[in-house]
Amino acid sequence: MKLTIGFVLAAFLAFTQAIPVSKSEIQEKAVQGLRLLQFEEHLDPVWKTEDERLDYIRKNVNFFDVTETWELEQSLPQTQGLTALATYAPPSHQTAVNALLPKLSTTSMSSYLASLTAFNNRYYTSSTGQQASVYIQDTLRAIASAAGRSDITVTAFKHSWAQTSTIVRIAGTSSDQAVTILGAHMDSINSSSPSSGRAPGADDDGSGTVNLMEVFKVLVQSGFKPSTPLEFMFYAAEEVGLLGSQAIATSYKSSGKSVKAVLQLDMTGYQRPGTTEVIGIMPDFVDAGLTTFLRQLITSYSRLQAVTNSACGYACSDHASWNRQGFPTALPFEGSYPSNSNPVIHSSSDTISASGFSITHSLEFAKVALGFAYELTV
Ligand SMILES: *[C@@H]1O[C@H](CO)[C@@H](O)[C@H](O)[C@H]1NC(C)=O
Repeated sequence: MKLTIGFVLAAFLAFTQAIPVSKSEIQEKAVQGLRLLQFEEHLDPVWKTEDERLDYIRKNVNFFDVTETWELEQSLPQTQGLTALATYAPPSHQTAVNALLPKLSTTSMSSYLASLTAFNNRYYTSSTGQQASVYIQDTLRAIASAAGRSDITVTAFKHSWAQTSTIVRIAGTSSDQAVTILGAHMDSINSSSPSSGRAPGADDDGSGTVNLMEVFKVLVQSGFKPSTPLEFMFYAAEEVGLLGSQAIATSYKSSGKSVKAVLQLDMTGYQRPGTTEVIGIMPDFVDAGLTTFLRQLITSYSRLQAVTNSACGYACSDHASWNRQGFPTALPFEGSYPSNSNPVIHSSSDTISASGFSITHSLEFAKVALGFAYELTV
């Protein structure tokens, strides 16, 4: 009996959870409101309802929502589970970078953050979520244009939902086309009421977003022209299964782009009161060589010590979308994880006035990010 039940159960599971192979099968399920979610690297994705997806978010269960990218991904060289060890020369442009660091301004970052947190929320399907994306594009375009920089493009990367991702590219002056990427997600979520609830997302991930806006501004205003391409990415729809970053990473993979390194900033603004201020380094689903380089950047350009965190886990932020496609990534974090991470994210309380939120703490991540951009592209 057991064997028979086992067989029937296995056959049932195989039937109900069969991996879709065609676009039409995926579209058919998607129009019924179903989402294809992957919960572990070595498990096949499974169909869930949107309500079930929201339940996982509320329970802090991480996953890739692969509904939009599964079909394309199946046609790409499989890189999941491969661990590369990229190599990077240690930081060597301290004089030039140290001259730029004092230009990074907490006042300027606070001003960007005030604008971002003023949107009711930045949820990926809401109109304010899309307006926030346009705000980022307009702001960065104005910086490029005020500097008369025709080598800079600001592109709205469109998705099947309202909110666009943003790719800001500074062309390289040499023939080497390997691109250096710095990313943050610009969406936010109120997990009890996603589409209409208040979600200022000051720390998650307004902080990483304004770090990158500020680094871009300082590099452009200083006249920096990279020899290899430098891209700043502001991902849509991270909070619902890394949708924006997966769309971009699979697109880069399928068009055969060469990627030198990907830095992710996700939550840089909280320092748990009463604890030592540090930069946490995530150890998993990252490139070990790039992470060593990140540690050297922190030593060179930040006043803070680096500590190695506990595992962030599967699909915990957008770096995982790049790691999944075989690109080298690294992920610094606001403090020790999970013990000292911000307790008020995904709620209306994730504001700049929340206890522990500190723009001067966040500035340290902008310094490291500026060093990352400069050292890898000069
Ligand atoms: C979600 O938004 C509503 C409406 O703005 C608010 O009352 C509620 O407290 C928020 N939920 C959380 C968890 O912050």
